This record gives sequence, structure tokens and C-alpha cells, in this order.
Amino acid sequence: MRGQIAAAFCAAVLGFAASSPVAFAQQKPPKSRASGAAATPNSLAVGPGNPAGDRQVFLSIKDLMESIIDPSADTLWGAVGTVVDNEGIHELFPKTQDEWQEPRRAAVRIVEGSNLLMMPNREAAPAGTKSEAPGAELEPPQITVLVREKRKSFEAFARALQRVGLEAVRAIDAKDTSLLLEIGARMESVCEGCHQTFWYPQERGISINGRNARPSQSR
Ligand code: HEC
Repeated sequence: MRGQIAAAFCAAVLGFAASSPVAFAQQKPPKSRASGAAATPNSLAVGPGNPAGDRQVFLSIKDLMESIIDPSADTLWGAVGTVVDNEGIHELFPKTQDEWQEPRRAAVRIVEGSNLLMMPNREAAPAGTKSEAPGAELEPPQITVLVREKRKSFEAFARALQRVGLEAVRAIDAKDTSLLLEIGARMESVCEGCHQTFWYPQERGISINGRNARPSQSR
């Protein structure tokens, strides 16, 4: 069901991601250090080729997905919705201020986690990691290369995720549950768009028919 909703939104969101003006300030390399200043230990590790400046990347895209992006998305998706059981249809939504805090924290993690995704030179997965669905998915080293080659596209997806995260923060602050539901559907199409481009590109054709579950874990 969610997959179908996501598929419907997919084209619109991706078009938007590709054509929209840059909504968030582009990260610029640091200005060259004042010539008289002694070089700090950090400046040795950070050459001019590293546009992330003195911010260092330690862990992989897979780590960010597992620890920040995926659990936060699950919290957001779980916060609002409709549950159908024997007793009928129930609308699910946060009621107290406390209950709103959890999805808000999750949305904050999505927004700022997207910045982490945009930091350059991040490997797809820890060294030695193998795909769980070889053939259907690219192997992590292939993903790393693809992300490097299609850097602009990868960043556009990360920025699109950041934008829906920010919309979610605002919808939560306005306690607008139906908007949050709609944002959740758009968020999933951003996840799937990036995954279909960088993780399991050969799935692209299949997704047109409405099937866009992941090969290894379907949602
Ligand atoms: C900017 C691109 C991008 C976006 C946006 C993105 N992902 Fe990912 N995601 C990836 C890549 C690339 C991988 C594959 C990493 C690997 O296994 O090497 C991945 C892997 C994953 C994994 C598997 C982690 C594992 O254990 O192997 C999950 C789960 C996941 N993403 C969830 C999400 C969810 C949920 C969203 C949206 C809220 C999302 N991702 C958005 C790029 C993205």
C-alpha cells in the first residue's frame, strides 16, 4: 500500500528535486588559512581537495541509514496513519505534547542527517561488507563509485530528504496530522528514488509497475 502511494508521488518529487533551485546553502571549502598562522594538526589532514574542510567523515552511508535515517523515518511513519481492525477504523496520531516530541526529534534527525549524507568522501558501507542480495543490489564498492560519479544527483536526493524533513518539523509544530501523513508518503518516494539510483539501479524498470519494495527487506 505504502509502496503504491510512494510510486504515485515519485515522479513529482524527483522532478522537483532535479529542477528546484538550491534551497540550502551550498557548503563552500574553507577560505585559505591566513599565511602567518601556524598550521594546526588538522590542516595537515585536510588538503584543498577535501571540500568538507575540517569536518571529518568516519562512518559509512550504511551506518547513517541504520543509525539515523531509517529509525527516524520509521518513527515518523509510525506517528500518524490509519489502523483497521475488527472494531473498525482508527486514526493514529500523537495527542499529548509528549507524544509529539518523538516524531519531532525524528524529523530533526532526518533534517540534519541529510547534511551528513551530503558530506563528500563517505564510503557506501564498511570495508568488506557484501550485498545481501547480490545481483539485485550493487556491491558497496560499486555504490561508492556511483555516488562519486553522480555526486550532484546524490546530493539532490539528500537535499530533497532534508526538505521533506523540514516540512515534517513544521507540520509537527503545527500539529497538522494529515499534512504529516502526506509528507510521509513523499519522504518514502525520496528514499526509494535514491535507492533506485544508487543501491539497486536495475530495479528502475520494475518500479514503474508499482512495485518498488527493496529486494532484501520489503517495507
Ligand atoms: C541520498 C541517497 C539516499 C537517501 C535519500 C536515502 N538513502 Fe537509504 N541508502 C542509500 C544507499 C546508497 C544505501 C546502500 C548502502 C549500502 O548498503 O552500501 C542505503 C541503504 C539503506 C538501508 C539499508 C541499510 C543496511 O543495513 O544495509 C536502509 C534501511 C535505508 N537505506 C533506509 C532509508 C530510508 C528509510 C530513507 C528515507 C527516509 C533513505 N534510506 C534515504 C542512500 C539513500
